[in-house]
Amino acid sequence: MNAIKTDYYLGDCLEVLSRFDTDSFDLIVTSPPYADRRSKTYGGIKPDQYVEWFLPRAAELLRVLKPSGTFILNIKEKAVNGERHTYVIELILEMRKQGWLWTEEFVWHKKNCYPGKWPNRFRDAWERCLQFNKTKDFNMYQEAVMVPMGDWAEKRLKHLSEVDQSRDTSKVGSGFGKNVSNWVDRKMAYPTNVLHLATETGNRNHSAVFPKTLPEWFIKLFTKEDDWVLDPFAGAGTTCQVAQVLSRNSVGIEILPQYYQLAKENIKPTQYLLFEETQDETHYTTGNR
Ligand SMILES: C[S@@+](CC[C@H](N)C(=O)[O-])C[C@H]1O[C@@H](n2cnc3c(N)ncnc32)[C@H](O)[C@@H]1O
Repeated sequence: MNAIKTDYYLGDCLEVLSRFDTDSFDLIVTSPPYADRRSKTYGGIKPDQYVEWFLPRAAELLRVLKPSGTFILNIKEKAVNGERHTYVIELILEMRKQGWLWTEEFVWHKKNCYPGKWPNRFRDAWERCLQFNKTKDFNMYQEAVMVPMGDWAEKRLKHLSEVDQSRDTSKVGSGFGKNVSNWVDRKMAYPTNVLHLATETGNRNHSAVFPKTLPEWFIKLFTKEDDWVLDPFAGAGTTCQVAQVLSRNSVGIEILPQYYQLAKENIKPTQYLLFEETQDETHYTTGNR
């Protein structure tokens, strides 16, 4: 295994990304500021201007992603005047025109979402993790995220009917089919596209950090050791920290000096620190050689 690098850049990702070569990254995992959220600390982009703000950044991400790579965009539309705003939907449509394939949508179910009461809706306990690709032929390592079969298997697979023992084609003509008997004696199954992960905000010094398990899951699914991961809205640097633990190289870009500083401090202290000799105060790199 080669030395793993973690590089942080201070600045607007739109400008910083222009310094990277085309086709540099295997995976981009990020959570940009949501429209109108946290305007006192960062973000504050108006919902109606969100697509216009994001698109030039999406164009740069499209350029720096390898053809075999994946872009995971964690985002959620807010409610405006009593209904959900449509900027995420509009963004998806515009990104498709830009050349992205909208391959999949994962749901992040925030399983520790605290209780609340609103007059016209229930507490919001999920966010979108949109998957975009440049080509249909992207790298995916499904075995890396398999889950235990669970209790249902013992009961369901004990007595198999005749139908269970051959491919049962969907009655609604969808073209799908299943052969339940394929799963007998298996200990592990493939997961669904719903991730049940608790949020982690305590003690992380940033109001909107990822739980480490979120980038971990996508990094395992879409990259292998020594690959390159990018988080263009790095915040406290969770994506890069996890990438480093999983022996993936990473780049994080953050616009606010206090979070850039925090991300640098969050790098595992056991790892060898290496400051770039360029004296460039907007760029910091570590290696674990
Ligand atoms: C939702 S937070 C990301 C948190 C991150 N996922 C983590 O786990 O710490 C979004 C971050 O993007 C930063 N940001 C906002 N606009 C930016 C831009 N144009 N370029 C780079 N970073 C930006 C904000 O300062 C904020 O820290």
